[in-house]
Amino acid sequence: MRPLLALWILLSLLPGAEPGINPRLQRLDLHADQVAEVAFTLALPAQTSVSAVVANCACIRTLTTLPIQADATGAASIRLRVTGMRPGMEDILVATSAGILRAQVQIVGPGAGRGLDQLQIAMRAAANHGWHILAIAHDLRGRARHCGCSHGALGGIGRLAQLPRLATELQPQVTASWILTGDVDGQRTGVGAALSASGWLRADPRVLVTAEPLAALTAPGIVAVIPTVPVAAEHRRLIRPVLTDGMAVEMLLVDAAGAVQARHTVPIDDSIPDDAALERRFDDPLSVTIRTDAQPSTACAGCHASAFATWKLSRHARALDSLAATDRTDTCIGCHVTTTASAIVAPGVSCQSCHTGSDAHVAAAGSVRTTGTVQCRSCHDARHHPTFTQDAAWPMIQHGR
Ligand code: HEC
Ligand code: HEC
Ligand code: HEC
Ligand code: HEC
Repeated sequence: MRPLLALWILLSLLPGAEPGINPRLQRLDLHADQVAEVAFTLALPAQTSVSAVVANCACIRTLTTLPIQADATGAASIRLRVTGMRPGMEDILVATSAGILRAQVQIVGPGAGRGLDQLQIAMRAAANHGWHILAIAHDLRGRARHCGCSHGALGGIGRLAQLPRLATELQPQVTASWILTGDVDGQRTGVGAALSASGWLRADPRVLVTAEPLAALTAPGIVAVIPTVPVAAEHRRLIRPVLTDGMAVEMLLVDAAGAVQARHTVPIDDSIPDDAALERRFDDPLSVTIRTDAQPSTACAGCHASAFATWKLSRHARALDSLAATDRTDTCIGCHVTTTASAIVAPGVSCQSCHTGSDAHVAAAGSVRTTGTVQCRSCHDARHHPTFTQDAAWPMIQHGR
């Protein structure tokens, strides 16, 4: 284990302390090659010493030479240097003689373009060793469009369609089979057929999707087995795709004897060029009416002024604005609008999107309680927000009465 990681784990296990850190969260828009400096102000008992600042990411380094001492008023400040290589939410732990302080830095940006990098690495390894590639997109389920969320744009038929051509351009001498396994079309027929036109195979006898994986492992001619049931066993040929819905492609590097020598997961993200025209062929309709003048949250503003003010500044309030006109389709609007009446929706993630039963609560002027809060993960899921963590996100939208 890296010493930094060990220290980080150790610090995160220690009990937190009351002294404050300001701000609790800083958000930076950074491209992969950009660097920024951020400062945090600490409020501590006078003369407290600050001994270490630890971030569990090499993208954050401490500029302040430690240890330092809080002044007579208890004030101290630390400066950090942040690079944009790895977008996501990073925890910062500050060790002081009065306890541990926690803060966060959110790095927003396109990142280092991991998808294309991974493809290049896999192709180079195959070229160096003379290996063949089996590239597998599992359980695509008719997911034709990428979401553009988190700047990650995970998945999308337009990007998948580019992969066979890109791979050949990168390493012309490497042979690769592009294989769709599991459920390809889902509700949307034609996705598999469209990918076939760009070099994807609808199946391959060397890759078996089965409910009896253990028996299949020893079958002749089978290179990879994808189980449809949970299996505890580990085996070189047993493949559990990391991400489904075409969000990642598993690349197996196979030697002449048919043995898997290496495996690379290629995320289908922004770094891979998109065939937008192909995606548009799969555009779906908008079967509801968006009432842009409807503002459900204003029903709460009178009694919950503070919650309303916080919400109004958040991206939830403007969630529909992020969707381009062509993206206002049934597939996309679900998490970017509020359902008001059947077939009519309001723009943005309003109070009512999260607080169930709040219509009855309003009707009774607050004397009937709301019935609960929906899970953040229902919208911030692995596809649309892979770096989401509830603990980190809540402080950004935290509100009360
Ligand atoms: C993204 C989801 C989300 C949105 C949007 C949202 N809230 Fe909340 N709200 C929560 C969560 C989570 C809590 C924490 C308590 C809980 O679990 O219910 C909370 C807490 C509250 C509380 C305090 C409850 C208590 O017991 O102290 C009030 C009042 C409240 N919200 C009102 C609003 C109002 C008014 C709006 C719109 C202006 C709004 N919320 C928008 C998720 C949301
Ligand atoms: C109904 C879907 C939905 C739910 C439920 C939801 N979110 Fe969101 N959230 C979104 C969307 C969509 C965006 C992006 C809005 C945009 O920029 O277009 C977003 C953005 C955010 C942001 C970025 C806000 C900013 O101002 O930068 C945070 C933080 C966040 N959500 C936290 C939460 C938390 C915490 C919960 C649970 C309490 C939650 N969300 C529940 C849909 C949702
Ligand atoms: C399951 C819920 C969900 C669906 C469906 C969804 N989104 Fe999102 N979208 C989110 C969330 C959550 C965020 C906030 C992500 C973040 O802050 O990193 C978001 C953010 C975005 C953003 C802002 C990106 C950014 O980082 O600033 C765009 C653009 C977007 N979505 C486009 C789409 C498109 C296009 C579709 C349909 C193909 C779609 N979304 C469908 C949940 C959803
Ligand atoms: C007429 C005033 C009024 C309006 C309008 C109103 N509330 Fe409330 N709300 C209250 C009162 C009073 C409480 C109880 C406060 C307490 O117990 O501390 C409350 C409590 C809450 C709570 C926490 C307790 C619970 O019932 O779950 C939430 C969440 C909440 N309101 C959300 C909303 C939302 C969302 C809206 C808009 C759709 C809204 N309120 C509109 C007066 C109102």
